[in-house]
Amino acid sequence: VPTYIMTQQVSGSPFFKPFFLKTPVSLLRQRRHTLPASEFRNLTPQDAISVFEIEREAFVSVSGECPLTLDEVLNFLGQCPELSLGWFEEGQLVAFIIGSGWGKERLSQEAMTQHVPDSPAVHIHVLSVHRHCRQQGKGSILLWRYLQYLRCIPGLRRALLICEEFLVPFYQKAGFKEKGPSAISISNMQFQEMEYTIGGQAYTRRNSGC
Ligand SMILES: CC(C)(COP(=O)(O)OP(=O)(O)OC[C@H]1O[C@@H](n2cnc3c(N)ncnc32)[C@H](O)[C@@H]1OP(=O)(O)O)[C@@H](O)C(=O)NCCC(=O)NCCS
Repeated sequence: VPTYIMTQQVSGSPFFKPFFLKTPVSLLRQRRHTLPASEFRNLTPQDAISVFEIEREAFVSVSGECPLTLDEVLNFLGQCPELSLGWFEEGQLVAFIIGSGWGKERLSQEAMTQHVPDSPAVHIHVLSVHRHCRQQGKGSILLWRYLQYLRCIPGLRRALLICEEFLVPFYQKAGFKEKGPSAISISNMQFQEMEYTIGGQAYTRRNSGC
């Protein structure tokens, strides 16, 4: 029986707090030195290198551009760690989301580098899954947990992101709606803007055909 140690959001707090499933004392003794099998928690600047390694592999090889530079990762994890979420397996980061606050109706170029504190919207800059762990449902699960978690942050009403056309169905399955072409362009790439109403739609099940 694996020792599952997970984190769970505590009511009223914007941060994920460690949560331990009950495990027999004998098992805890045996496994005192093992790392948590699966853990979800907010990221910190100490996680920036692991984040950037996954990001670099995911994007640089494909488009030559990362959504966030290492400095921007450090910046956002320093300014708004509560808008990030990482999935760790045995201590290794396998997937993550980085967000920041945004106050306007639509995302504009400044949203790429700014965090607007206490705003009604979160801008999801990047969702990325380690290449060894893709197509296993992890991206969908992490996004679902993140959107559930956002419901508990007071004043937050919407989540916004931009993505390339081929990922529109992925985000639609998660409950996002298309807002149309984004004003943001990076290296001549075009994006769709997507919006999720926090506390609104239920997340449709993966491959459910909903
Ligand atoms: C996109 C990403 C986050 C999805 O995570 P994942 O764990 O692989 O995805 P899941 O297993 O939860 O879901 C799979 C679904 O993702 C979508 N998807 C994933 N990669 C895709 C791709 N390259 N093209 C089209 N759809 C894709 C499909 O809808 C797929 O559903 P299907 O298997 O029913 O066709 C992951 O592939 C990744 O990190 N890619 C590189 C970085 C990236 O593009 N991030 C998103 C922009 S910020």
